Amino acid sequence: MAIQTHCNQTRCLMKREMITVPFFDMSRTPESERQAIDEAMKKVTKRNSFVLGQEVNDFEKAFATFCSAERCIGVASGCDAILWSLEALGIEPGDEVITVANTFIGTILPILRASGTPVLVDCLEDALTIDPDQVAAAVTPRTKAIIPVHLYGQPAEMDEILAIAEKNGLVVVEDAAQAHGATYKGRTCGSMGNAAGFSFYPAKNLGAFGDGGGVTTNDHRLADRIGMIRNYGQSKKYHHDVDGWNSRLDTLQAAILAVKLTHLPAANEARRSIAKQYREQLAHLPVEIPVEREYVDHVYHQFVMQVDQRDELRSFLDQQGIQTGIHYPIPIHKLKVFAESEFARKSFPETEAAANRMLSLPIFPGLTTEEIAHVTSTISAFFS
Ligand SMILES: Cc1ncc(COP(=O)(O)O)c(C=O)c1O
Repeated sequence: MAIQTHCNQTRCLMKREMITVPFFDMSRTPESERQAIDEAMKKVTKRNSFVLGQEVNDFEKAFATFCSAERCIGVASGCDAILWSLEALGIEPGDEVITVANTFIGTILPILRASGTPVLVDCLEDALTIDPDQVAAAVTPRTKAIIPVHLYGQPAEMDEILAIAEKNGLVVVEDAAQAHGATYKGRTCGSMGNAAGFSFYPAKNLGAFGDGGGVTTNDHRLADRIGMIRNYGQSKKYHHDVDGWNSRLDTLQAAILAVKLTHLPAANEARRSIAKQYREQLAHLPVEIPVEREYVDHVYHQFVMQVDQRDELRSFLDQQGIQTGIHYPIPIHKLKVFAESEFARKSFPETEAAANRMLSLPIFPGLTTEEIAHVTSTISAFFS
């Protein structure tokens, strides 16, 4: 990479050979992992058992063990995982469910589908996860549940959340869609609440080749109920005992996920290493990176930072071939679809500030040291 001397950094960048850095690149999956996935898929196609086949059962067992939970039930998506958890826990019309404004809509829609009323609170300024003090203040006699979101791969403040739930007789559904393998004070995400919803969307830390989701829980009765709900409410073929739906994790996806699960600890480690390099290389620049709590294992589903002139920096990076994301550009309470909701009239300053200043950098296993350095030196050039 030849760099001209006697020029400012910005002009130097123009002289460099353009390195493009994708935001996410699944094609970098190591060949050995790819082959194992191909083999696993072949097994399924040979056996012709595509719905709730043996692989679903095997993956559910492996993922429950991975999460230190008693059970896992594979479902069609992360949204469904949260929805069926809420339904099985008995959310009824008028029940309030407290969650955080700084999240993806996939946390909110299941509350509404379950006939609950979402009650939003703001996020913490330093970690950007749900603020437990605001949760405590939002509890009313109608509150039934709390959904803490382990956002960007960092666990929410679970001790405080669980204490509020216990004091007020509430259930807790962890939104673990972005936190496969993350831990909080030694406890794995997915093992702390009454239930947890995971997404296996392809770009997640544990991603399928399509949509998929899973509920983890330590409650066998709840697991059995969700096992029926996701399969037309059946206890056995044509015995429809509860109100259900078709929301099963596909057998092919389960076979793929089982292989990828064996690589997940290394993949999470790779993400942590990338995040460490970003933190070190960006330390001298005017960017704010959310704190990483010393008592968590953050799995960096996203590497986010807050910066003034976000949009200008983003287009500068784009011109240099560096893709970025924004998680999330429009806060939940400002989305058109929720314009008539009670929470649309409220303001959540931390969430709003984050939406205006947030930028997510490329992070995925296989991102090279050279690419990381290119991203950080380009950000540095922007500021010089
Ligand atoms: C925080 C959060 N919750 C819920 C979901 C919903 O998951 P899915 O897209 O698998 O339905 C997602 C997915 O992106 C998410 O990031």
